[in-house]
Amino acid sequence: MPEPHYPVSPMSEQPPTIGIGLIGYGTVGRGVAHLIKKHTDMYAQRVGKQAQIRSVLVRTPGKATEYAQTSDDIDPAIVTNNADTFFAADVDIVIEVAGGTTTAGDYIRRALSAGKHVVSANKALLAKDGKALCALARENNVALAYEASCAGGIPIIAALTQGLMANHVDGLYGILNGTCNYILTQMIKQGWTYEHALKTAQDLGYAEADPALDVSGMDAGQKLAILAGIAFCIDSNETHLNCTGIDTISLDDVKAGQELGYDIKLLGIAEQGEDGRVALGVEPCFVHDEAILAQVHGAFNAVSVVGDAVGHVLLYGQGAGQMPTASAVVADLLDTLSGGYPAAFKDAGWTPDRGRSFELLPPEDVQSRYYLRVDALDAPGTLGKLTTALGKLGIGISAVSQHESADGTHDGHLPVVLLTDKARRGDIDTAIAEFAQSGLVQGTPRVIRVVDLP
Ligand code: HSE
Repeated sequence: MPEPHYPVSPMSEQPPTIGIGLIGYGTVGRGVAHLIKKHTDMYAQRVGKQAQIRSVLVRTPGKATEYAQTSDDIDPAIVTNNADTFFAADVDIVIEVAGGTTTAGDYIRRALSAGKHVVSANKALLAKDGKALCALARENNVALAYEASCAGGIPIIAALTQGLMANHVDGLYGILNGTCNYILTQMIKQGWTYEHALKTAQDLGYAEADPALDVSGMDAGQKLAILAGIAFCIDSNETHLNCTGIDTISLDDVKAGQELGYDIKLLGIAEQGEDGRVALGVEPCFVHDEAILAQVHGAFNAVSVVGDAVGHVLLYGQGAGQMPTASAVVADLLDTLSGGYPAAFKDAGWTPDRGRSFELLPPEDVQSRYYLRVDALDAPGTLGKLTTALGKLGIGISAVSQHESADGTHDGHLPVVLLTDKARRGDIDTAIAEFAQSGLVQGTPRVIRVVDLP
């Protein structure tokens, strides 16, 4: 298909050219350079300025220079591994897509201190040092933009800070890690074991270099800390997170949930109570199989926002990958080029340096429905005793499932699944301790939150 023709801005026959510095020329960096080159005229039409990459900083230039020679997206001569050379270039905006928190952090601080706007995709750095970095940007009268740090190509930060700005956000529920969503989808749909699904996710290149970051819930947690800060105007960071990963989820749980009409998803949940306390956590949750989030399959991400005026809004898309991430990076670049983002950043109260300090809701005070799977004593009255123990703590039951064992009981025990009504997590834990004390169950019961979403 021929490329459409975009005339230069009607404001000026020759739109001014703005110099861009790019830190990192790996998968995402190459995507960013490609997009800028491919759509130069269209972008000039949209924002009245032309972006030109004038310097590219990489750790080892060999491969980057070689790629630049074949791709035609940047001039190979501008690739350097010398930070001084990079910072000496005539650039107004620095894009950081190298990742990591140490060197990348140093470069971002150096760029901001030199009065350059910065666009970064670095979730780990933002979740750790976002507050100090935004403060530094402000001191230097420049902006730090980070749309690509959360949920890849999904424009969730723009949605929260622009389209949903009129709302008090009551809650944000996100499938924020594609690797985990891929693994859980394969367990649900194909009946794969966790280990097999993880191995395939790694082979497909979804997982981080260290997949522990994905499956522990930490990667999703970093994104959640950033998004909650914006949604609630709080100074949240990674230390506020309570993360449980998917590495302990078994096929037994997946199947037991399915039987009751629920699918398991790793959700990042940020909720703001009427008392101002904020619940912030990542954990595997059951969602009804007809809920929209249950339809998010494979490596896709989705973020569900509940606002007091708008109600429920869902954003869905690719949370990682070269071009989806480049889409978010370049959106920030264009918003910065146009002056829109720097103007908004200047007065914004949603950046972590301006966010209010807040009180976390302790995990034991979280109110939710829960799934309990226990290995219960196969004896008359056990089920009654279990439900009585829950009832004494004011915990009602909404569903129960127990099967005859095909090959007899296992050590005199049978798996029983209970879905509770809404209860305090601390009370659920108390009930479970009582189950064990009274000899009604063996082993450690599995507790999984059940989240009711549209
Ligand atoms: N490894 C991440 C994921 C990608 O699977 O979603 C970006 O954070």
